[in-house]
Amino acid sequence: MNIHIFDSGEQLDEAAAETICGFIRAKPGAVLGLATGETPLGIYRKLAEKFREGLISFRQVTTFNLDEYVNLPEDHPESYHAYMRRHLFDHIDLPPSRAHLPCGNAADLAAECQRYDALIEEAGGIDLQMLGIGHNGHIGFNEPGRELAAGTHVVRLAPETRRANARFFGSIDEVPERAVTMGVGTILKARLILLIAKGADKADIVRRALTGPITTECPASLLQTHPRLVVLLDRAAAKALGTAG
Ligand code: F6R
Repeated sequence: MNIHIFDSGEQLDEAAAETICGFIRAKPGAVLGLATGETPLGIYRKLAEKFREGLISFRQVTTFNLDEYVNLPEDHPESYHAYMRRHLFDHIDLPPSRAHLPCGNAADLAAECQRYDALIEEAGGIDLQMLGIGHNGHIGFNEPGRELAAGTHVVRLAPETRRANARFFGSIDEVPERAVTMGVGTILKARLILLIAKGADKADIVRRALTGPITTECPASLLQTHPRLVVLLDRAAAKALGTAG
């Protein structure tokens, strides 16, 4: 594992965006795994900026998002479909037909999960997977528990996840109870993983995930087994690691 610690969130965003652009320049048809939430916002801004400046094109890229809420209309402002359009897809030249998210409104969710996994397989798997981390150690919406699913599946969101995401919805009652998420098996199959965390509130879970025991009770701890894990942290998120200086 390679850990990089940045003095500011802005420097982290620039480094992450440069890593992604470098990856695409080396492999224009790269398959990217994308995340939502607060953590990637600055990175998406930088990617859009670099596209506007003519420094990168996403024309041949394929993307797969980690997750989507169940039973939230795709045009709801807090759906991950809407988030991705608002923060990235509307600002770059990625062909919409190659931007994939699981559909949380499918009549047959089990079939939708299978379809999503098959699409990822067909695309040749994920080259670079970007991940944020939940306060309870979730990645995607793989919540802590006695077991974890390998492939895309439907999850019941943990109460702390719904509480954390209530800040986007206004109230916890508005936050959907279930989501479709890529499984940890699919995430671990990505050829390169970029785990990103910012802020003091993530310091403890970052320490547990990177230096604690590997356990399904902290899904992000399974990332320790990945041969190419790059971790980008701001100083606040790194402060419990004992390496932040
Ligand atoms: C988002 C996702 C989640 C978030 C995590 C952190 O697609 O899969 O695992 O990365 O909940 O969220 P933020 O970045 O809002 O702290």
